[in-house]
Amino acid sequence: MAVSANSGLDRIETASRDEITALQLDRLRWSVDHAYRNVEHYRKVYDQAGVHPSDIRTLDDLRRFPFLNKSDLRDHYPFGLFAVPRERVVRIHASSGTTGKPTVVGYTQRDIDTWAGLVARSIFAAGGRAGDIVHVAYGYGLFTGGLGAHYGAERLGCSVVPVSGGQTEKQVQLITDFQPRVIMVTPSYMLTIAEEFERRGLDSTGCSLQVGIFGAEPWTGSMRSEIERRMGIDAVDIYGLSEVMGPGVGSECIETKDGLVLWEDHFYPEVIDPDTGEVLPDGEEGELVLTSLTKEALPVIRYRTRDRTRLLPPSARSMRRLGRINGRTDDMLIIRGVNVFPSQIEEIVLKERVFTPNYLIEVGRSGHMDAMTVHVEWPATGAVDPSARTAAAARLAHHVKSSVGISVQVVVADPGTLERSAGKARRVVDRRTP
Ligand code: DLL
Repeated sequence: MAVSANSGLDRIETASRDEITALQLDRLRWSVDHAYRNVEHYRKVYDQAGVHPSDIRTLDDLRRFPFLNKSDLRDHYPFGLFAVPRERVVRIHASSGTTGKPTVVGYTQRDIDTWAGLVARSIFAAGGRAGDIVHVAYGYGLFTGGLGAHYGAERLGCSVVPVSGGQTEKQVQLITDFQPRVIMVTPSYMLTIAEEFERRGLDSTGCSLQVGIFGAEPWTGSMRSEIERRMGIDAVDIYGLSEVMGPGVGSECIETKDGLVLWEDHFYPEVIDPDTGEVLPDGEEGELVLTSLTKEALPVIRYRTRDRTRLLPPSARSMRRLGRINGRTDDMLIIRGVNVFPSQIEEIVLKERVFTPNYLIEVGRSGHMDAMTVHVEWPATGAVDPSARTAAAARLAHHVKSSVGISVQVVVADPGTLERSAGKARRVVDRRTP
């Protein structure tokens, strides 16, 4: 990506709207054609719908094409939607899914380069500069957060500290010793780190950090103020999802903090009515649908993100912005940045075979962190000895931790006391304020 010598911005970030839409149209035609030629799924679905890549003459023509859903990725698990030979895929990431099968995504070397460039652009927008020390506390591994942030920070010319998530005491130690200027982490974990500073009697506002780049989970304006106050930093939003790339699909600018600039040279956004699928005018809230314009390994055409937001006019850059992500249109829970589906919990509870099939997931906060309690029910036929319940609860918590990756509290209710379904079961009580 060409970075102009003076400002540090990519030239396209301040290009005219005409130039941006011309580039989008060019790239959209390539992307749809690439998907159609190389992925059987797109060919089949488009042939059935009577649409063809050559139908795209304007950006608006895209709305005639069918959507891509998360279930399509799962149905083609693991590599069935790849548009290049597997040998050209240099990286694989995955995110959790409803059936225990994760959603698998792949990147060519060029995709990785594009991603690094966009995260570098995002960090720059957030106020990071070449030469900064960047503390990355997003998880490393199949999750795109850690490595996505890492490659972007390196690309910008920063010194990266790849701490990953967890080990809060060590996070504080490394921040104190290495003096990073930038931190990249989920907003809820930032607050836990802030608490650890306070617990140790250290002055968190006086620490070296000046910029925090927060995402992977919904967070509010008051959370931003709280973090800024507690850490003495600028807190800036970053958005992304594995299917579309990872972090850096959109990012906020430190000078305006007025929503996520969607990097429109690589992604084409639409906002739809989630019930009818109709495209809504800019400014109206609905479900975000994204189309990749340059991805080689896993092109996504009209991917339904399930994220609720709206498109806003350009401000600090020439590209449109997303309003804050106001939750999701489906039932995926995001617990401390980890995607959790109620059905995953159900599977584990049922597999355990010691509880009744009635269960309730309660989500709330413990301090500033998400906390999840799984209420299960002891069968009337179960052992009377209380230690049996305690042991079963511990086993369940262990299984949730090892297969879903989050720590939960398990509360075992007396036989017959959990709410019974009268039609649709209520499985989730979410007590977090939006
Ligand atoms: O969470 C990628 C990411 C990592 C983004 C680090 C930002 C920072 P997934 O695990 O696939 O990917 O989860 C994607 O997380 O559809 C949203 O529902 C939610 N999400 C991500 N960023 C934000 C944000 C990564 N800034 C899902 N605000 C998305 C609200 C967010 N929700």
